[in-house]
Amino acid sequence: MILKTLDDLLGEGVAGRRVLVRADLNVPFDKKQAGVITDDGRIRAVLPTVVALRDAGARVIVFSHLGRPKGAPDPAFTLDPVATRMGELLGAPVIFASDTVGPAASAAVDALLDGQVLLLENLRFNAGETSKDDAARGEFAAQLAAFGDAYVDDAFGAVHRKHASVYDVPALLPHYAGGLVLRELEVLKKVTESPEQPYVVVLGGSKVSDKLAVIKALLPKVDKLLVGGGMCFTFLKAQGHEVGKSLLEAEMIDTCRSLLESAGDRLVLPVDVVAASSFAADASFDTVDISDIPADRLGLDIGPKSVALFAEAIGGARTVFWNGPMGVFELAPFAAGTLGVAEAITKIDGFSVVGGGDSAAAVRTLGLDESAFGHISTGGGASLEYLEGKTLPGVAALEK
Ligand code: 3PG
Ligand code: MG
Repeated sequence: MILKTLDDLLGEGVAGRRVLVRADLNVPFDKKQAGVITDDGRIRAVLPTVVALRDAGARVIVFSHLGRPKGAPDPAFTLDPVATRMGELLGAPVIFASDTVGPAASAAVDALLDGQVLLLENLRFNAGETSKDDAARGEFAAQLAAFGDAYVDDAFGAVHRKHASVYDVPALLPHYAGGLVLRELEVLKKVTESPEQPYVVVLGGSKVSDKLAVIKALLPKVDKLLVGGGMCFTFLKAQGHEVGKSLLEAEMIDTCRSLLESAGDRLVLPVDVVAASSFAADASFDTVDISDIPADRLGLDIGPKSVALFAEAIGGARTVFWNGPMGVFELAPFAAGTLGVAEAITKIDGFSVVGGGDSAAAVRTLGLDESAFGHISTGGGASLEYLEGKTLPGVAALEK
């Protein structure tokens, strides 16, 4: 794998050059207060690249997606608050262009001075960004590429997307991998190719269907695969338990049953859950064994016996990879499972990886010490696709 890196670019000299930086600034926002970022981890993660370029005198043009707008401007997904926050973290204002490749962006790029940082508006306000049509993507990519003399990809969280800014722009400009992308790839390579044993993987999140490929890829490699989160209920149902009103993917039950059969005792499910009257912080709830989930209740977290069971498996591991919360941790009564599992991971005598945007945000919003983990990835989907063994379009584009 021959990748040119940010260091190579800095070595070539960037003073006065316009450098495009693809970042993943897809940060979570407070659902009740517009414009309030609840976890700025992804902004912080790209700062070293931006600072290195800025300090070397480059004209830094950052671009990113935010959320999933439908290919047209949508104020609910503006990157404006992200520019403000990035400026605070940089200690110098970040100029914000109110469009991505339109007149505002062109004027801002033309006016940009050496050592200044510009953030363009959300890439996904343009249909070309995510288009499946090569020509449509190519056309948008050419507009972006015209703004720069070199391209740095530091958007690890988006390398699994075959999108214009990730896949097509690097074909048009000298291209380099940023430090974040390099570090993420190095860690994932290590856990994929040579994990120290025992290797325990913890998976949560809502859907089995999203995780099926990674479960299949990981089962032969792990000592234990611990499954919590909304997806555990389809497995529990496959085992013959009634799951009440819990999240269930009925069409996945047979698949879960055969996974359970082939995995044997390597696949570990919760033994108790927190069953609530509704999906709300003020719902009434009880901890029940998995054989006693009431028909009118839904499981919103794993219970304390499950946390203890999972913690025991985690405690014996030399390598742990964790993706996906164990419960609805955003609501206080259902945060204990995720917190307990995360705490157990911080205590291992070995190397731990938190794989994912959501799990990483959970670590920080639950107040855990980030330095207690071996690596906190900025990419959920991207790290899972890496573990599946898939080719990541953004990485392939950098290798060309
Ligand atoms: C993420 O949050 O998973 C990344 O930013 C990618 O976003 P996407 O899943 O909307 O492509
Ligand atoms: Mg995602």
